[in-house]
Amino acid sequence: MKNIKNEIEHIVEQACAADTNIFGYNIWTHHILQVVENGKQLAPRFDANPEIVEFAALLHDYASIKDEALYADHHIHGPIEAEKLLKRFGYPTEKIEAVKEAIATHRASVTVVHRSAEGACLANADAMSHIEGVPSLLYLAYVHHGMGIDEGRIWAKAKLQRSWRKLREDVQNIVRDRYEAALKIL
Ligand SMILES: [Fe+2]
Ligand SMILES: [Fe+2]
Repeated sequence: MKNIKNEIEHIVEQACAADTNIFGYNIWTHHILQVVENGKQLAPRFDANPEIVEFAALLHDYASIKDEALYADHHIHGPIEAEKLLKRFGYPTEKIEAVKEAIATHRASVTVVHRSAEGACLANADAMSHIEGVPSLLYLAYVHHGMGIDEGRIWAKAKLQRSWRKLREDVQNIVRDRYEAALKIL
């Protein structure tokens, strides 16, 4: 299993390093790895399978990293890409289904009726990374989207607030200080 994980890590990191990745290599160092770490930390709270959470975290934004055109629906393309990769390495089918399910429900901007424990854990780990990564949000706003000072500030604040609402109450308590400090500045 460790080998499959290493392969997947390598593939996702390579995709992050590619010129075609519009987010830049930062998305690997400042988002994907954080979501993996947050997922490990949160898995016991959600009674989630840590292995499923880890694969889902590694692959949750992979579709949009690979192809900008897939960003808008990356929760739909993500599971398809994840299945292709995991199948190639002989990962068990029922585990692939669990990874796909978690990726399909990870977004705050898309209404989700019900999530698996792993899906809920991933969604919280993803949102937590946005709250912990205010400099990354500002980088996205000012450098990537080329926004002006106030436009970027308002955009980052709205994104933070969406991420906050996505967190379960006990997870909000973990990052409450950072969130409140960020809101004061923004
Ligand atoms: Fe995402
Ligand atoms: Fe993400």
